[in-house]
Amino acid sequence: MKHVDKLRLSADDWDEVTFPRPREQKFDRVVERAISRRGFLGGVVAFGSGAAVMGSALLKGTTAHAQQTSRFAFTPIPAATDGTVHVPEGYGWHRVISWGDPLFSEAEGDFDHATGGSVEMSDKVFGENTDGMWLFTIGDRQIIAVNHEYTNRDVNLPQAEEGVPRNAGDVLKLQNLQGVSIFEVTEDESGWGIVLDGPYNRRITHNTPMRISGPAAGHDLLKTEADPSGTRSLGTMNNCGADRTPWGTYLTCEENWNGYFGSTEERQDQKSITITDEQQRYGIGVEGWGYDYHKWDARFDVSQNPNEPHRVGYIVEIDPSDPESTPIKRTALGRFKHENAANTIAPDGRIVAYMGDDERGEFMYKWVSRDVYVPGGDTSMLLEEGQLFAAKFHDDGTGEWLPLTPASTGMTEAEIAIFTRIAASKAGATTMDRPEWIAVNPVSIQGYCALTNNRERGVKANAGGDWQAVGGPNPRAENNFGQIVRWHPDGEDHACDRFSWDLYVMCGNPEVFDDAYGGSDNIHEGNLFNSPDGMMFDTTGLLWIQTDGDYDNEGDFAGHGNNQMLAGDPATGQIERFLTGPYGSEVTGLTWSADRRTMFVGIQHPGAPFPDGEGNLPRSSIIAIKRDDNAPVG
Ligand code: FEO
Ligand code: CA
Ligand code: CA
Repeated sequence: MKHVDKLRLSADDWDEVTFPRPREQKFDRVVERAISRRGFLGGVVAFGSGAAVMGSALLKGTTAHAQQTSRFAFTPIPAATDGTVHVPEGYGWHRVISWGDPLFSEAEGDFDHATGGSVEMSDKVFGENTDGMWLFTIGDRQIIAVNHEYTNRDVNLPQAEEGVPRNAGDVLKLQNLQGVSIFEVTEDESGWGIVLDGPYNRRITHNTPMRISGPAAGHDLLKTEADPSGTRSLGTMNNCGADRTPWGTYLTCEENWNGYFGSTEERQDQKSITITDEQQRYGIGVEGWGYDYHKWDARFDVSQNPNEPHRVGYIVEIDPSDPESTPIKRTALGRFKHENAANTIAPDGRIVAYMGDDERGEFMYKWVSRDVYVPGGDTSMLLEEGQLFAAKFHDDGTGEWLPLTPASTGMTEAEIAIFTRIAASKAGATTMDRPEWIAVNPVSIQGYCALTNNRERGVKANAGGDWQAVGGPNPRAENNFGQIVRWHPDGEDHACDRFSWDLYVMCGNPEVFDDAYGGSDNIHEGNLFNSPDGMMFDTTGLLWIQTDGDYDNEGDFAGHGNNQMLAGDPATGQIERFLTGPYGSEVTGLTWSADRRTMFVGIQHPGAPFPDGEGNLPRSSIIAIKRDDNAPVG
């Protein structure tokens, strides 16, 4: 393996390093870049129904689009390359909480920039890499539940050489800084702050007891020496996006959990004999991703505990109103690299949850419950009994949800829940350009998925051997910019298995390219961005888009600047820049205060020494954004 800087490798690059897949050279599979931008858009028009039904922005010329009345209550801001946060005139922001800040009084004290905090207090402070979050109103209290996706080892273990854990204590500290934080917030004259020792305050880490439910629970593949029942595991891992159920629970989504596992067994050709084909499909490798858990905690050593990885990769339901409750791993919703979940209620009352699997060439999924949701009624089976589907997109602007059943896959219900990627491959789902967050429009029957980028589109098969064909919602080979696909379910019913689709936006750089890589018509000099990732609707139906992309501001990405947050109008296609993050950061995670007058936004893994300034460690943080006139912001 050639030398790579593993501390700075993006998550999806790890699997590529561990299990490099062959490039295909067949000429007929390589799509040249010579698609004219105009020609491409014409092609979308020709797809017909999907685009036409939805009144796509792609169909509107710039003139028509300029004539629309803007719904944005802000003046768009320019791209930035500096080390702090910018918001439009008339808005302000302040820091709410950063990695290492105490949730409990026993951890009180100034953050120690020399050590990054002690292992003893690491499960009593706000964790690292803030991501998906939701604000819950419980009685008269406002409670934020928020994910801590992964760690930045060189930052979190500043005294360890290159952030390599030196002992079991270092590993435990990393384990404690991830998972989920739940805490109370209040607002006073000085802004928003944390309620230390709030009655709902809680840290959930890589070691918190969980209950496993659904078709995979108790299966032989989930049994370990520590848990012969296969129904009780420890920890939730690599928690990326989040969702709130109508019954008031928090759904946290396990994404790049494969990187925590490794093998102490001697390796041969990147593999040890304990790495199965199924584990390879999920990117389990001998070395792991540098966390080195397996060297200090045998639970993560697949040569000793080969079934432990089967107990991760799910959506986990947490009740924020009961700090003593045991989180539940809902295996019926499948096992993959869960980005987020976006649930809605079908006209007949069934729960529909859309989900993405963020890896190059993996799939989009949908869960439809068997039972209907009744407010105040029994909700315990809504994420247990139902049907899981994977999306198939047709080039004509239509699509279908393929049920993953024993009949369609030749697998048992438990195997479908554990090896969901394999089931979706067998069913013939469409390989996607890395599905990140999905959002459901609250004022129109539409779903949106951020397809962040995929440099392997048209170049390689996915890890299951499914070719990544250029076309449909993934129209550009070697796609480094990303796009957002949206769909409209037939019959105005999210539970329906048919839909029409179009592209809401194709990111690009029209200053550099005059073909499809220039982006769709709603991309212009003033809103350049790449790699859409976090995405949420506000109650008014504006789509907030957060980015996790190339921020070098050069070449193909000139003018894009730092990662950012933009607002999009689904009706007109207009997209404008609202926020820029500090250099090196990803902007991810978004929720609102109960009165909607504050927007909470996550700033993850800043590269600049944000928020404490030069000479200090960079710290992932949640910021609060308000209008100067205190009017609602969504
Ligand atoms: Fe956690 Fe795919 O971002
Ligand atoms: Ca993400
Ligand atoms: Ca991303």
